[in-house]
Amino acid sequence: MIDVERLRAETPGTRNVVHLNNAGASLMPQPVIDAIHRYLDHEIGYGGYETQRAFAGELDGVYESLARLIGAEPAEIAINDSATRAWDMAFYSMPFDEGDRILTTTTEYVSNWAAYLHLRGRRGITIDVVPNTPTGEIDVDALESMIDDTVKLITLNHIPTNGGVVNPAAKVGDVARAHGIPYLLDACQSVGHLPIDVAEIGCDMLAATSRKFLRGPRGVGFLYVRSDFLHRLDPVFVELHTAPVVLPDRYELRTDARRFETWEKNFANVLGLGTAVDYAMEIGVGAIWERIQVLAETARRELGEIGGVAIRDLGAVKCGIVTFEVEGRRPKEVRDLLSGRSINVSTVTAHSAPVDMHDRGIEGLVRASFHAFNTEDEITEFASAMRVIA
Ligand SMILES: Cc1ncc(COP(=O)(O)O)c(C=O)c1O
Repeated sequence: MIDVERLRAETPGTRNVVHLNNAGASLMPQPVIDAIHRYLDHEIGYGGYETQRAFAGELDGVYESLARLIGAEPAEIAINDSATRAWDMAFYSMPFDEGDRILTTTTEYVSNWAAYLHLRGRRGITIDVVPNTPTGEIDVDALESMIDDTVKLITLNHIPTNGGVVNPAAKVGDVARAHGIPYLLDACQSVGHLPIDVAEIGCDMLAATSRKFLRGPRGVGFLYVRSDFLHRLDPVFVELHTAPVVLPDRYELRTDARRFETWEKNFANVLGLGTAVDYAMEIGVGAIWERIQVLAETARRELGEIGGVAIRDLGAVKCGIVTFEVEGRRPKEVRDLLSGRSINVSTVTAHSAPVDMHDRGIEGLVRASFHAFNTEDEITEFASAMRVIA
């Protein structure tokens, strides 16, 4: 059981707003805020490099926390500026040749899709989109039937940016393993949202962010690369931290996943991320997931009763992201009207998940996304505001 009162007392932002934008950026809890302040205060007082040295043990602990969260080893974790950069470091380091195929989903995030198009142009890869089941997840049988010797990567999101779907990541992993095909999972919306175990999922690479369901600060994300997969990637960038130059004509690549980092980082944010992970694990990600599902279902039910509001979520298992259209109102207009009542939601456009939005003929959606600190009373307030707006 989650102590919601405690979560709210520890989340200063809940005193100002009804925050239903956890899929955008959640509200940081006090321990995360304190960790960032503690680091910055030290940096202000004693200098950046000196503070990094003083906090070296705690900063190292962040890799341990992230590894524990997803069932990995600390040496399999790299910390980057964002989920996108973490994901890019893996994707662009894949040794693709002309004619290689990648298999992906309809609901890919726009930045991933842009990278697919980019490498289609630069390296001649082919992008093949696996069809969905009628409930909107990637169809795992169809995926398997599309595999041949030219498939060099299976790459998909766990939870799309634009709806309630949870893709069957572990079933995809079974197929990837059975055929020996590398598997990259975009877990940006799922880490902190639901329990993740990379061994169970069977992915070789996974990228995620701090600021969404983990409730950490912005500007930091991380990448997991399975240790015995590391050598299959040719790092797209190298620098002093990832590939120390040991002789004027020779560098040595780091032997752990940190070869995908950069030396320079926002270390206050790194510490904030580690604290957010510890905080989530102390509450229990399983318990968080259960509560999020209950809240999101309640919201879908209440919104579904309002004339002019159409819920657009798919998914056999539905997550904490609730998307809807309002007759006669543009999504951004709805967002702004709700904002005027101190209710935060966000919007997705036709470009956010371009293939899916195009296939479903949807121009834009309002997105309300729930976390464990949200309450039933907040949903009631949100629904009554929506009744007026609709
Ligand atoms: C599914 C998905 N993948 C990747 C990203 C990119 O994350 P970031 O903005 O941290 O790079 C997002 C951001 O909304 C997302 O929803």
